[in-house]
Amino acid sequence: MKPTALITGASGGIGYELAKLFAKSGYALIVVARSEDKLQQLKEELKGHSVTIIVQDLSKPGAAEALYNKVREQGRTVEVLVNNAGFGLNGLFDEILLRDQQAMMQVNIQTLTELTHYFLPDMKNTRMNGVPRGVLNVSSVAAFQPGPRMAVYYASKAYVLSFSEALVEELKGTGVTVTTLCPGATETKFFETANAQDTKLTDRMMSPKQVANEGFVGFIKGKRVVIPGKMNRSMAIATKFMSRSAAAKVAHYMDK
Ligand SMILES: NC(=O)c1ccc[n+]([C@@H]2O[C@H](COP(=O)([O-])OP(=O)(O)OC[C@H]3O[C@@H](n4cnc5c(N)ncnc54)[C@H](OP(=O)(O)O)[C@@H]3O)[C@@H](O)[C@H]2O)c1
Repeated sequence: MKPTALITGASGGIGYELAKLFAKSGYALIVVARSEDKLQQLKEELKGHSVTIIVQDLSKPGAAEALYNKVREQGRTVEVLVNNAGFGLNGLFDEILLRDQQAMMQVNIQTLTELTHYFLPDMKNTRMNGVPRGVLNVSSVAAFQPGPRMAVYYASKAYVLSFSEALVEELKGTGVTVTTLCPGATETKFFETANAQDTKLTDRMMSPKQVANEGFVGFIKGKRVVIPGKMNRSMAIATKFMSRSAAAKVAHYMDK
Protein backbone atom coordinates (compact mmCIF):
# COMPACT_ATOMS: atom_id res chain seq x y z
CA MET A 1 0.00 0.00 0.00
CA LYS A 2 1.20 3.47 -0.88
CA PRO A 3 1.71 6.16 1.77
CA THR A 4 -0.71 9.10 1.50
CA ALA A 5 0.04 12.82 1.33
CA LEU A 6 -2.83 15.22 2.03
CA ILE A 7 -2.19 18.61 0.47
CA THR A 8 -4.33 21.67 1.17
CA GLY A 9 -4.48 24.43 -1.40
CA ALA A 10 -3.53 22.03 -4.20
CA SER A 11 -5.71 23.79 -6.79
CA GLY A 12 -2.98 26.23 -7.82
CA GLY A 13 0.41 27.78 -7.23
CA ILE A 14 2.86 26.14 -4.83
CA GLY A 15 0.38 23.47 -3.65
CA TYR A 16 -0.30 22.30 -7.21
CA GLU A 17 3.44 21.82 -7.80
CA LEU A 18 3.94 20.11 -4.44
CA ALA A 19 1.14 17.69 -5.28
CA LYS A 20 2.87 16.65 -8.51
CA LEU A 21 6.16 16.06 -6.67
CA PHE A 22 4.58 13.90 -3.97
CA ALA A 23 2.61 11.88 -6.55
CA LYS A 24 5.68 11.27 -8.70
CA SER A 25 7.69 10.09 -5.72
CA GLY A 26 5.12 7.38 -4.88
CA TYR A 27 2.57 8.95 -2.54
CA ALA A 28 -1.17 8.57 -3.07
CA LEU A 29 -2.72 12.03 -2.89
CA ILE A 30 -5.67 13.60 -1.12
CA VAL A 31 -5.97 17.11 -2.54
CA VAL A 32 -8.06 19.81 -0.92
CA ALA A 33 -9.28 23.26 -1.98
CA ARG A 34 -12.50 25.09 -2.92
CA SER A 35 -12.00 25.00 -6.72
CA GLU A 36 -13.17 21.55 -7.79
CA ASP A 37 -12.45 22.23 -11.48
CA LYS A 38 -8.79 22.99 -10.78
CA LEU A 39 -8.42 19.91 -8.58
CA GLN A 40 -9.94 17.86 -11.44
CA GLN A 41 -7.37 19.38 -13.78
CA LEU A 42 -4.60 18.27 -11.41
CA LYS A 43 -6.10 14.76 -11.29
CA GLU A 44 -6.13 14.68 -15.12
CA GLU A 45 -2.49 15.78 -15.22
CA LEU A 46 -1.62 13.00 -12.78
CA LYS A 47 -3.44 10.22 -14.67
CA GLY A 48 -2.14 6.86 -13.51
CA HIS A 49 -1.52 8.18 -9.99
CA SER A 50 -3.93 7.83 -7.08
CA VAL A 51 -5.60 11.22 -6.53
CA THR A 52 -8.62 11.77 -4.27
CA ILE A 53 -10.34 15.14 -4.36
CA ILE A 54 -11.97 16.71 -1.32
CA VAL A 55 -13.64 20.08 -1.85
CA GLN A 56 -13.56 22.02 1.41
CA ASP A 57 -13.60 25.67 2.37
CA LEU A 58 -10.91 25.87 5.04
CA SER A 59 -11.99 29.33 6.19
CA LYS A 60 -15.06 27.88 7.90
CA PRO A 61 -14.83 26.97 11.59
CA GLY A 62 -14.98 23.18 11.93
CA ALA A 63 -13.47 22.61 8.47
CA ALA A 64 -10.48 20.70 9.83
CA GLU A 65 -12.65 18.25 11.77
CA ALA A 66 -14.95 17.78 8.77
CA LEU A 67 -11.96 17.09 6.53
CA TYR A 68 -10.42 14.63 9.00
CA ASN A 69 -13.75 12.79 9.27
CA LYS A 70 -14.07 12.55 5.47
CA VAL A 71 -10.57 11.04 5.27
CA ARG A 72 -11.35 8.51 8.02
CA GLU A 73 -14.72 7.61 6.45
CA GLN A 74 -12.78 6.58 3.35
CA GLY A 75 -10.65 4.31 5.54
CA ARG A 76 -7.55 6.34 4.77
CA THR A 77 -4.63 7.33 6.98
CA VAL A 78 -2.30 10.16 6.17
CA GLU A 79 1.48 9.87 6.36
CA VAL A 80 2.21 13.41 5.14
CA LEU A 81 0.17 16.53 5.84
CA VAL A 82 1.01 19.55 3.71
CA ASN A 83 -0.60 22.66 5.19
CA ASN A 84 -0.18 24.89 2.16
CA ALA A 85 -3.56 26.65 1.78
CA GLY A 86 -3.28 30.29 2.75
CA PHE A 87 -3.69 33.83 1.55
CA GLY A 88 -2.74 37.41 2.34
CA LEU A 89 -4.55 40.74 2.42
CA ASN A 90 -2.83 44.02 1.65
CA GLY A 91 -3.89 47.38 3.10
CA LEU A 92 -4.11 49.31 6.33
CA PHE A 93 -5.14 47.02 9.17
CA ASP A 94 -8.16 49.09 10.23
CA GLU A 95 -9.38 49.45 6.63
CA ILE A 96 -9.40 45.76 5.66
CA LEU A 97 -12.76 44.21 6.51
CA LEU A 98 -12.57 42.36 9.79
CA ARG A 99 -14.49 39.38 8.41
CA ASP A 100 -11.88 39.00 5.64
CA GLN A 101 -9.06 39.11 8.19
CA GLN A 102 -10.93 36.57 10.34
CA ALA A 103 -11.19 34.25 7.32
CA MET A 104 -7.46 34.66 6.69
CA MET A 105 -6.59 33.83 10.30
CA GLN A 106 -8.92 30.84 10.12
CA VAL A 107 -7.16 29.41 7.05
CA ASN A 108 -3.57 30.43 7.85
CA ILE A 109 -3.60 29.67 11.58
CA GLN A 110 -6.66 27.91 13.01
CA THR A 111 -7.32 25.27 10.37
CA LEU A 112 -3.59 24.58 9.95
CA THR A 113 -3.27 24.00 13.70
CA GLU A 114 -6.39 21.85 13.93
CA LEU A 115 -5.44 19.68 10.94
CA THR A 116 -2.03 19.08 12.50
CA HIS A 117 -3.74 18.12 15.76
CA TYR A 118 -6.09 15.66 14.05
CA PHE A 119 -3.52 13.97 11.81
CA LEU A 120 -0.41 13.81 14.04
CA PRO A 121 -1.46 10.83 16.21
CA ASP A 122 -2.04 8.70 13.09
CA MET A 123 1.38 9.70 11.74
CA LYS A 124 3.05 8.67 14.98
CA ASN A 125 1.30 5.28 14.96
CA THR A 126 1.78 4.38 11.30
CA ARG A 127 3.42 1.07 10.54
CA MET A 128 5.06 2.44 7.40
CA ASN A 129 8.54 2.73 8.78
CA GLY A 130 11.20 4.07 6.45
CA VAL A 131 8.67 6.23 4.58
CA PRO A 132 9.19 9.96 5.19
CA ARG A 133 6.17 11.03 7.25
CA GLY A 134 5.32 14.27 8.90
CA VAL A 135 4.08 17.78 8.33
CA LEU A 136 5.16 20.32 5.73
CA ASN A 137 3.83 23.70 6.81
CA VAL A 138 3.96 26.57 4.34
CA SER A 139 4.92 29.78 6.07
CA SER A 140 6.78 32.65 4.37
CA VAL A 141 9.83 34.90 4.67
CA ALA A 142 7.18 37.20 6.15
CA ALA A 143 7.59 35.10 9.31
CA PHE A 144 10.90 36.82 10.10
CA GLN A 145 9.69 40.42 10.43
CA PRO A 146 6.63 42.59 11.12
CA GLY A 147 4.80 43.56 7.91
CA PRO A 148 3.10 46.96 7.83
CA ARG A 149 0.12 46.93 5.41
CA MET A 150 -0.01 43.14 5.70
CA ALA A 151 0.13 43.09 9.49
CA VAL A 152 -2.12 40.11 10.11
CA TYR A 153 -0.70 38.07 7.24
CA TYR A 154 2.91 38.50 8.43
CA ALA A 155 1.88 37.70 11.99
CA SER A 156 0.03 34.59 10.82
CA LYS A 157 3.16 33.31 9.11
CA ALA A 158 5.29 34.03 12.21
CA TYR A 159 2.78 31.87 14.10
CA VAL A 160 3.21 29.02 11.60
CA LEU A 161 7.01 29.11 11.93
CA SER A 162 7.01 29.26 15.74
CA PHE A 163 4.37 26.53 16.04
CA SER A 164 6.19 24.24 13.61
CA GLU A 165 9.62 24.68 15.20
CA ALA A 166 8.20 23.81 18.61
CA LEU A 167 6.72 20.60 17.19
CA VAL A 168 10.12 19.61 15.75
CA GLU A 169 11.42 19.36 19.30
CA GLU A 170 8.32 17.61 20.67
CA LEU A 171 8.49 14.97 17.95
CA LYS A 172 12.17 14.06 18.21
CA GLY A 173 12.55 10.28 18.25
CA THR A 174 9.05 9.55 16.88
CA GLY A 175 10.07 9.35 13.21
CA VAL A 176 7.66 12.19 12.43
CA THR A 177 9.30 15.33 11.04
CA VAL A 178 8.04 18.89 10.68
CA THR A 179 9.41 21.15 7.96
CA THR A 180 8.52 24.81 7.53
CA LEU A 181 8.74 26.15 4.01
CA CYS A 182 9.34 29.92 3.96
CA PRO A 183 9.03 31.17 0.37
CA GLY A 184 9.71 34.71 -0.73
CA ALA A 185 7.71 36.31 -3.54
CA THR A 186 6.49 33.55 -5.86
CA GLU A 187 4.66 33.85 -9.16
CA THR A 188 1.18 32.61 -8.19
CA LYS A 189 -2.30 34.06 -7.70
CA PHE A 190 -1.19 35.17 -4.22
CA PHE A 191 -0.60 38.84 -5.09
CA GLU A 192 -3.88 39.14 -7.02
CA THR A 193 -5.82 37.67 -4.10
CA ALA A 194 -3.97 39.93 -1.66
CA ASN A 195 -4.48 43.04 -3.81
CA ALA A 196 -0.71 43.55 -3.75
CA GLN A 197 0.15 43.38 -7.47
CA ASP A 198 1.53 46.93 -7.58
CA THR A 199 4.04 46.55 -4.74
CA LYS A 200 7.81 46.13 -4.98
CA LEU A 201 7.32 42.63 -3.58
CA THR A 202 6.54 41.44 -7.11
CA ASP A 203 9.73 42.86 -8.68
CA ARG A 204 11.64 39.61 -8.33
CA MET A 205 9.73 36.36 -8.08
CA MET A 206 10.56 32.65 -8.06
CA SER A 207 8.44 30.13 -9.95
CA PRO A 208 6.09 27.95 -7.87
CA LYS A 209 7.86 24.93 -9.34
CA GLN A 210 11.25 26.01 -7.95
CA VAL A 211 9.73 26.80 -4.56
CA ALA A 212 7.86 23.51 -4.36
CA ASN A 213 10.94 21.59 -5.40
CA GLU A 214 13.09 23.08 -2.63
CA GLY A 215 10.30 22.50 -0.12
CA PHE A 216 9.79 18.91 -1.19
CA VAL A 217 13.51 18.05 -1.08
CA GLY A 218 13.81 19.75 2.33
CA PHE A 219 10.87 17.77 3.68
CA ILE A 220 12.23 14.45 2.41
CA LYS A 221 15.57 15.26 4.08
CA GLY A 222 13.75 16.12 7.32
CA LYS A 223 14.97 19.72 7.33
CA ARG A 224 13.57 22.04 9.96
CA VAL A 225 13.23 25.23 7.88
CA VAL A 226 13.55 25.71 4.12
CA ILE A 227 13.94 29.18 2.59
CA PRO A 228 13.95 28.77 -1.20
CA GLY A 229 16.33 30.92 -3.25
CA LYS A 230 19.66 32.56 -2.39
CA MET A 231 18.20 36.06 -2.32
CA ASN A 232 15.46 35.08 0.11
CA ARG A 233 17.96 33.29 2.35
CA SER A 234 20.18 36.40 2.40
CA MET A 235 17.22 38.63 3.25
CA ALA A 236 16.15 36.31 6.06
CA ILE A 237 19.68 36.38 7.51
CA ALA A 238 19.85 40.18 7.15
CA THR A 239 16.67 40.63 9.22
CA LYS A 240 18.39 38.78 12.10
CA PHE A 241 20.94 41.58 12.32
CA MET A 242 18.37 44.40 12.18
CA SER A 243 16.23 45.85 14.93
CA ARG A 244 12.56 44.82 14.67
CA SER A 245 11.61 48.41 13.85
CA ALA A 246 14.20 48.60 11.03
CA ALA A 247 12.94 45.27 9.66
CA ALA A 248 9.36 46.61 9.76
CA LYS A 249 10.48 49.72 7.84
CA VAL A 250 12.08 47.56 5.13
CA ALA A 251 8.88 45.49 4.82
CA HIS A 252 6.83 48.70 4.64
CA TYR A 253 9.08 50.10 1.88
CA MET A 254 8.74 46.86 -0.11
CA ASP A 255 4.96 47.06 0.12
CA LYS A 256 4.78 50.41 -1.69
N1 LIG B 1 3.14 33.48 -3.62
C1 LIG B 1 3.94 34.00 -2.72
O1 LIG B 1 4.64 35.00 -2.97
C2 LIG B 1 4.06 33.37 -1.35
C3 LIG B 1 5.14 33.74 -0.54
C4 LIG B 1 5.25 33.18 0.71
C5 LIG B 1 4.31 32.26 1.16
N2 LIG B 1 3.27 31.92 0.36
C6 LIG B 1 2.29 30.96 0.88
O2 LIG B 1 2.19 29.86 0.00
C7 LIG B 1 0.94 29.20 0.18
C8 LIG B 1 0.35 28.90 -1.18
O3 LIG B 1 0.05 30.12 -1.84
P1 LIG B 1 0.32 30.38 -3.39
O4 LIG B 1 1.37 31.39 -3.49
O5 LIG B 1 0.47 29.10 -4.10
O6 LIG B 1 -1.04 31.12 -3.78
P2 LIG B 1 -2.30 30.67 -4.64
O7 LIG B 1 -1.87 30.33 -6.02
O8 LIG B 1 -3.28 31.77 -4.44
O9 LIG B 1 -2.80 29.34 -3.94
C9 LIG B 1 -3.48 29.36 -2.72
C10 LIG B 1 -4.11 28.00 -2.48
O10 LIG B 1 -4.80 28.05 -1.20
C11 LIG B 1 -6.13 27.63 -1.40
N3 LIG B 1 -7.05 28.32 -0.49
C12 LIG B 1 -7.14 29.65 -0.24
N4 LIG B 1 -8.19 29.90 0.57
C13 LIG B 1 -8.78 28.70 0.82
C14 LIG B 1 -9.92 28.29 1.55
N5 LIG B 1 -10.71 29.18 2.18
N6 LIG B 1 -10.23 26.98 1.60
C15 LIG B 1 -9.48 26.07 0.95
N7 LIG B 1 -8.38 26.40 0.23
C16 LIG B 1 -8.05 27.69 0.15
C17 LIG B 1 -6.46 27.99 -2.85
O11 LIG B 1 -7.50 27.14 -3.35
P3 LIG B 1 -8.99 27.60 -3.73
O12 LIG B 1 -8.94 29.05 -4.06
O13 LIG B 1 -9.34 26.71 -4.86
O14 LIG B 1 -9.79 27.30 -2.51
C18 LIG B 1 -5.14 27.68 -3.54
O15 LIG B 1 -5.07 26.32 -3.88
C19 LIG B 1 0.10 30.14 1.05
O16 LIG B 1 0.09 29.65 2.37
C20 LIG B 1 0.86 31.45 0.99
O17 LIG B 1 0.66 32.24 2.13
C21 LIG B 1 3.12 32.45 -0.89
